[in-house]
Amino acid sequence: MNTAPLPLTSPNRGVDTSRSPLPSYTELLRRLAGQEHALRYWDTLSDHQRTTFAVQLLSLNLDELRQLYQRRHETSVLPAPERIGPVSVIPPDSKQHVERGIDALSRGEVAVLLVAGGQGSRLGFDAPKGFYPVGPLSRKSLFQLHAEKVLALQQRYGGRVFTLIMTSPATHGPTVAFFEHHRYFGLTPSDVAFFQQGTMPALCLETGKLLLETPSSLFLSPDGHGGTLTALASSGLLSQLRERGVRTVFYFQVDNPLVRIADPAFLGHHLAAQAEVSSKVVAKRNAVERAGVFATMDGRCVVIEYSDLPRSLAEETQADGRLRLWAGSPAIHAFDLEFLQRMTGEGCLPFHVARKKVPHVDDPSPVRENALKFERFIFDVLPRAERWLLMETRREEEFAPLKNASGDDSPATVRAALLADSARRLQQAGAEVVGEVEVSPLYRLEDFSGRQVSGYVE
Ligand code: UD1
Repeated sequence: MNTAPLPLTSPNRGVDTSRSPLPSYTELLRRLAGQEHALRYWDTLSDHQRTTFAVQLLSLNLDELRQLYQRRHETSVLPAPERIGPVSVIPPDSKQHVERGIDALSRGEVAVLLVAGGQGSRLGFDAPKGFYPVGPLSRKSLFQLHAEKVLALQQRYGGRVFTLIMTSPATHGPTVAFFEHHRYFGLTPSDVAFFQQGTMPALCLETGKLLLETPSSLFLSPDGHGGTLTALASSGLLSQLRERGVRTVFYFQVDNPLVRIADPAFLGHHLAAQAEVSSKVVAKRNAVERAGVFATMDGRCVVIEYSDLPRSLAEETQADGRLRLWAGSPAIHAFDLEFLQRMTGEGCLPFHVARKKVPHVDDPSPVRENALKFERFIFDVLPRAERWLLMETRREEEFAPLKNASGDDSPATVRAALLADSARRLQQAGAEVVGEVEVSPLYRLEDFSGRQVSGYVE
């Protein structure tokens, strides 16, 4: 076995090897206490592979991983059902504080944050999900629809809208290239910032050992959208937000092309209530819909993820027959910037532990769950907020997520929802709709009043 200090021939991004030389093989082995198997292909690796692998291994927090592995048998993260209650929610269509929202937008006090670091494995699309050509007639990508909505906000209200796009190691390069290729879909490049979330290693379900994707690399996956907080701080974007005078960060997911980005009424309510976090709510389709639910827990607002919600609790109904925990989460939030800053300083969000099938060197085609993966969820900041606000929205107006290749939340259902939304909004604006219509987000619907509209309106 090689016991010499590791060669420092290759540049690496994570660790400045010129200041802190990488340790010797023996030292690395010692630091890996309990995980020495990770080095079993060491003799076969090139100098470059050894260096990059050593950097990866040295960045691990093995104590934290050990503790996470010990939680593998936890069946529920929830307290007793009597400590969990329904939430109060502002009904949809409240236009009460809309001027306040518009004012914040026109002053450039609102930034938008799009999370696009997920792997989208359920959709079976071999590229970042944001590339998906979801426009029913236009075939515009999810990214283009989102970017055009931001552009429309700037055109309508005059303020700059700083747009932050969170990616992961797998989606970062292609996402940046996609925006560059499409000239940022009309957005000003200096008003768009891409930042990468972190990763977490997977552990063998049976043994708690680190899994190798290749002989010279660990199996890593994105650390969940809760990674937004640390990534915002470490990328320097939190400071940039402050310097730009941003006070509110509007957060949404790449998979929902119906989202009303930075809806002024929602922002207005959030600001008027001086809320630290505000969230939109949709009534759940049924008890088993794969959506998080808002609830109160010991007087605090929480989102209980669908995978953590016991069936019995999900199915509980009120006297009127409605689900007791009816308030589904479309994952649309507004965060007060100071609150976000405080949250990054207050220690990390908890990890959620999930059992998954992970292909690795010893089990390239797993047939059953063989690994544990760890993710943080952004909505775990909610219970830390002293002041929060929930506002209902109608599913058909704001929530059509693209998740699956077929069935619910698939391209077919999302495109149908986009067509129906265009038709409804045009009719509300006084237009006559003929056949299928899709309107570009860049249009003001009022301009169609009294006109006949059909097809794709670009
Ligand atoms: C998510 C929410 C769920 C909500 C539903 C609404 C979680 C854990 N649950 O469920 O409460 O009701 O959306 O559609 O999010 N992402 C990252 N980095 C990651 C993981 C995910 O950026 O490490 C992004 C994805 O790109 C996507 C979003 O987060 O935009 C949601 O991720 P996904 O795994 O699809 O969540 P769901 O299980 O659908």
